[in-house]
Amino acid sequence: MYHDKLDSFPPGFLWGAASAAYQIEGGWNTDGKGASIWDEFTKIPGKTYQGTNGDVAVDHYHRYQEDVRLMAEMGLKTYRFSVAWSRIFPDGSGKVNEKGLQFYEDLIDALLANQIEPVLTLYHWDIPKSLQDSYQGWESRQAIEDFSQYCQVLFHRFKDKVTYWVTFNEQNVFTAMGYRWQSHPPNVADVKRMFQANHVINLANATAIKEFRSIVPNGKIGPSFGYGPIYSYDCQPNNVLAALNGEEFQNHWWLDVYVHGKYPKVTFRHLERLGIAPTIEPSDMELLQSVKPDFLGVNYYHGGTVRVNDFNTSSTTNVSTIDKSFEATDPYLMQPKDEQAQNPEKTMFTSVANPYLEKTKWGWEIDPVGLRIALRRLQNRYDLPMLITENGLGALDEKTNQGTIEDDYRINYLQSHIHEIQQAITDGVDVIGYCAWSFTDLLSWLNGYKKRYGFVYIDRDDQSEKQLARIPKKSFYWYKKVIESNGKIL
Ligand code: BG6
Repeated sequence: MYHDKLDSFPPGFLWGAASAAYQIEGGWNTDGKGASIWDEFTKIPGKTYQGTNGDVAVDHYHRYQEDVRLMAEMGLKTYRFSVAWSRIFPDGSGKVNEKGLQFYEDLIDALLANQIEPVLTLYHWDIPKSLQDSYQGWESRQAIEDFSQYCQVLFHRFKDKVTYWVTFNEQNVFTAMGYRWQSHPPNVADVKRMFQANHVINLANATAIKEFRSIVPNGKIGPSFGYGPIYSYDCQPNNVLAALNGEEFQNHWWLDVYVHGKYPKVTFRHLERLGIAPTIEPSDMELLQSVKPDFLGVNYYHGGTVRVNDFNTSSTTNVSTIDKSFEATDPYLMQPKDEQAQNPEKTMFTSVANPYLEKTKWGWEIDPVGLRIALRRLQNRYDLPMLITENGLGALDEKTNQGTIEDDYRINYLQSHIHEIQQAITDGVDVIGYCAWSFTDLLSWLNGYKKRYGFVYIDRDDQSEKQLARIPKKSFYWYKKVIESNGKIL
């Protein structure tokens, strides 16, 4: 579809940027905070790039006022951040830590004082360690109750200040990385356990939304899903079928549950045959069907291309195209094990590189049109307003001799993606906002501090925290103009 003239971004469009607690806050045990599973995992030798961790991160916990001042200077309309559960409940449940709550209240008040709409993420991957230790975290149904208690505390405290709430960030990513690929905590490699934990998280998501309806009747809540559209490698019918399988297995498996309260039939049947489908108790589906999100949070970085697996070619062919000096940490690129039940997708599809797309230094395909495709597919299938909760470029930014950061490549990346959002809006898709990842540079979970995403450079590296000075990059001033003009000047 070609448009002679693009529609304007709607008035009130939420131009924003995003972050997550563990990646920016630091102060990992300050003011009564308990440990999360990430505080422990990053200390296991060999798990993160050069042993980097979030103990200090970019020290947002102590410098949030300076960060909010920069957001205000940029004219940000919205800011998405996550709450660290272990700041509120150091032991995961039981006694509330008032200092932790106060930190978020101060942050929210600072945002509101600058007319910046907070978007609060309840869970960005950091379940309290004590819950992992005492009952294996998301593998136990007890986590549903504890998560609900934690959410209720936040709902009550911030119901008059926060309108937009995100339940889970990228459930598809943290379950795969944590329970299958052993590259996130809890460091498990067991697909059956992954699907079971995932089911418990679905129930926790539904329970939290149910509570939300009575406590924050005027608020809006939804999950943030890591969505990548799946393409068929070509028009060979078996490859088209493989892409159908891929879309269902990688995306609908979560999204259908969030929105329609049911698992996609074909994938469920496939997992049952392999003996790895989640165990569902009698009232589970009723609970899942009793709630619906108000919006879909969409995290978009790239999609995937698949074809039918001929069992002669390794499904890791695209790994060879990555610059070997960077670790491949993408779930799509990890080498699967041999056993059928450990590789449920093997008979459904196999991932291949897309010959039309360039890649970042970390091997992530750059595909702005994929974002329009994503938005179109999601609108068709789920028909909910969409908030883009993440999108951005990880790059090796360098300071010039003048101390500036000339990140034109990031501007190009963001510009091309925002342009595709405008195309989608013109197509008729309901997009309510765009949060670039990220506001400041931050800790990339597995890739340390040198993989930078921010509009604001943080003067620290993997070895040293230095002074943690904040330096707006060229993209900061560019985005400021985009916001000022409501997307007219891109
Ligand atoms: C998303 C996460 O998956 O991707 C973020 O929600 C993360 O927390 C971002 O930082 C970029 O990933 P990475 O691996 O480049 O840091």
